[in-house]
Amino acid sequence: MKYNRRIWALAGCSMAVFLLVCIGWNHTDGNTAVHKAGEIKDISLHEPMERDGKIYLRLADNQREGYPTSVACDYFANLVEERSQGRIEILTFHSSRLGDEKSTVNQLRYGGIDIVRVSIALLYDYNQELSVLQMPYLYKDSDHMWAILDSDIGDYFLASLRDNGMEGLCWYDAGARNFYTVNKEIRSVKDLEGLKIRVQQSNFMIDLISALGADPVDLPYEEVRMALHSHRIDGAENNFPSYISTGHSLMAPNLVMDEHTRIPEMIVMNKKILDEFSTEDQELIRQAALDSSLYQRELWKSEEEGNRKRFVASGGNITYVEDKDAFIRKVQPIYDVYGKKYKALLDEIEARAE
Ligand code: GCU
Repeated sequence: MKYNRRIWALAGCSMAVFLLVCIGWNHTDGNTAVHKAGEIKDISLHEPMERDGKIYLRLADNQREGYPTSVACDYFANLVEERSQGRIEILTFHSSRLGDEKSTVNQLRYGGIDIVRVSIALLYDYNQELSVLQMPYLYKDSDHMWAILDSDIGDYFLASLRDNGMEGLCWYDAGARNFYTVNKEIRSVKDLEGLKIRVQQSNFMIDLISALGADPVDLPYEEVRMALHSHRIDGAENNFPSYISTGHSLMAPNLVMDEHTRIPEMIVMNKKILDEFSTEDQELIRQAALDSSLYQRELWKSEEEGNRKRFVASGGNITYVEDKDAFIRKVQPIYDVYGKKYKALLDEIEARAE
């Protein structure tokens, strides 16, 4: 199945190139789009690709194959294919093959990509209320976060991007984010002062890291390793599996477990493309996404734990903050600004901590 998917991924890329050069692509309405190099006359966006009676959807993801969210995306694709008896196939493109995370969200909105797996930090600029789910030191732990995502609040946010042409299908876990640095060990919040820290391309993350006293540098995920290597930045922040799988741990071996935020991830689909499907098929796609979410949580837990143990066993340097309250006090301005706007929701989330 995996092999098949790879073949299809390759076939998908070649087909896209072929399409731009000379051919027409049959869309579900039977219209033929004519594309010529330099003279693209008619791109019917917002329609799923259909060929020989089968519908293909493209899913973009910036993690490598084998990473917990990638495995779960492949599982989602398999469920959709099996449950639709092969009528609907999701082609999964991992390792940023369809572009960096920010550009895949843009492509999703215009129907160039059908589905993305995305950190909600990148969705903040489309719906600022999503800051609520990524506030610093908000969740007591992972269970608290999942209690929120699995509730009416989670459902509300899945549906909150509709005005932007996007439909959230389910949530994936991305653990807690920690700082890591090339040289200086971080033990107290003061140690962050003036350090150039890479952040995701999100205004919320820029504000958050500035509040903690560091100097934020927003970069695409793919550029962080080189930026650490060339000392363009002093450090970055991410969850454990990303820290290890990207090789950032080799460039920036000092990790401080401050867990400043948990940023959940969404499987998001282009809304118009989803709406093109029959009600039954929409339900099939949604249910498969939800089932993949349950699977992903399990994968995440074991990957996080396994990575941590291996990192320590190989001599990795983990420090723990001496005064976490000092970190929490530093992010108060974030609560003052965002907390004012979304007070009721934030109070509700805090009240639901067991
Ligand atoms: C996590 C997340 C990615 C995101 C990355 C980042 O690894 O899974 O979707 O791109 O953080 O820091 O950019």
